[in-house]
Amino acid sequence: MASVAPPHVLNIADLRRLAKRRLPRVVFDYIDGGADAEVTLRENSRAFEDITFRPKGAVVTPPTDLRTTVMGAPLQLPFILAPIGSSRMFYPHGEEMAAKVAGQAGTAYILSTLSGTPMEQVRAASKGTVWYQVYLCGGRKIATGMLERVRAAGFTGLVITIDTAVAGMREKDLRNGIKELIGRGPSMLPYVSDMVLHPRWLAGMLADGGLMTFPNVVLSDGPMAYADVGKTLEDSAVCWDDLKWIREIWTGPIMVKGVHTAEDARRAVREGADALVVSNHGGRQLDGVPATLRVLPEVVAAVKGQIDILVDGGIRRGSDIVKALCLGARAVLVGRAYSYGLAAAGEAGVARAVEILRADLVRTMKLLGAGSVGELDSSLINVPETFPSGRQ
Ligand SMILES: Cc1cc2nc3c(=O)[nH]c(=O)nc-3n(C[C@H](O)[C@H](O)[C@H](O)COP(=O)(O)O)c2cc1C
Repeated sequence: MASVAPPHVLNIADLRRLAKRRLPRVVFDYIDGGADAEVTLRENSRAFEDITFRPKGAVVTPPTDLRTTVMGAPLQLPFILAPIGSSRMFYPHGEEMAAKVAGQAGTAYILSTLSGTPMEQVRAASKGTVWYQVYLCGGRKIATGMLERVRAAGFTGLVITIDTAVAGMREKDLRNGIKELIGRGPSMLPYVSDMVLHPRWLAGMLADGGLMTFPNVVLSDGPMAYADVGKTLEDSAVCWDDLKWIREIWTGPIMVKGVHTAEDARRAVREGADALVVSNHGGRQLDGVPATLRVLPEVVAAVKGQIDILVDGGIRRGSDIVKALCLGARAVLVGRAYSYGLAAAGEAGVARAVEILRADLVRTMKLLGAGSVGELDSSLINVPETFPSGRQ
């Protein structure tokens, strides 16, 4: 296994490089790529450069306090591991490893509906908070059973993704033929040479039960072939009525993920959500929407502190997290940052990604003169005039 210790790995870009080396192209592009021309994907990260810091000098802070709460759950870190479908394709036991590391670090892990590992196994892997991300694959009938199973397994919160009416147009995935890879055994033949060239990945997949069985989504009534997911999502995309229905049958906290506007943020509040995530799915769905950081002020102004606001997209450094918190987010989700770590080196890689972000956060906050996440506010950043300021 590649070393993820310093000085080999100092930042998330180093983990991305190692992931690229270990994975066949079809799998790496699935993690790394975005929709259409990837404008939103690039903008998500670039927008952080528009915000600069206004540090307080000559301030000695006590040990930095990174603690916060999200939907009532106490967290040691203001970042959460986002739901990532098919993590088991990056590394054997991928979902369990990510959940375990999040729990050890004192933060939450969100398990995607599109997990290839039974949810009970993932829940059992973590001693911390684990929430379940909901797609209504198969409609409400199957979802009813799925939610019963989620509750019985011990998941304490739901994350309902609302930006996936259809799967985004990920051109790299289509060109690489990911559907064939994850759906139909015999048509894997075109990938054989790429797989053989990545023996560490291949050996892991074979040891994990082989390439034919792992890419099934495990729903309440048994596995569903991964290749059928796109069609299933389209047939039963989540709408506000579904949210109302889920609110009636689920008594725990609910987070709505995929909010882009003040209108949807207010609707989420009205429908009884406890938190929302300003998210464009990491630039994988509708290309051409603005960077999430640019949408955050509008949503913060609309919600007026009624529920917790999170943001995700393009976060690769702890300083990005600090900027998001200064703009009014309570916490953030990170997706690719830990997925690169998982793909590079399994559990050790996820742990390294979490440690990089944690150490960055502490250093950035000390240099800013902020002792706790509660002290992070707009007085510590410069927001250019071209940046949206919370227009309604
Ligand atoms: C490979 C991959 C798979 C994803 N799968 C899901 C998913 O199953 N459900 C979901 O709500 N979001 C999914 N997302 C979106 C993430 O939860 C998150 O919104 C996004 O990764 C944030 O952007 P970042 O990767 O730049 O941090 C996925 C993202 C990636 C990169």
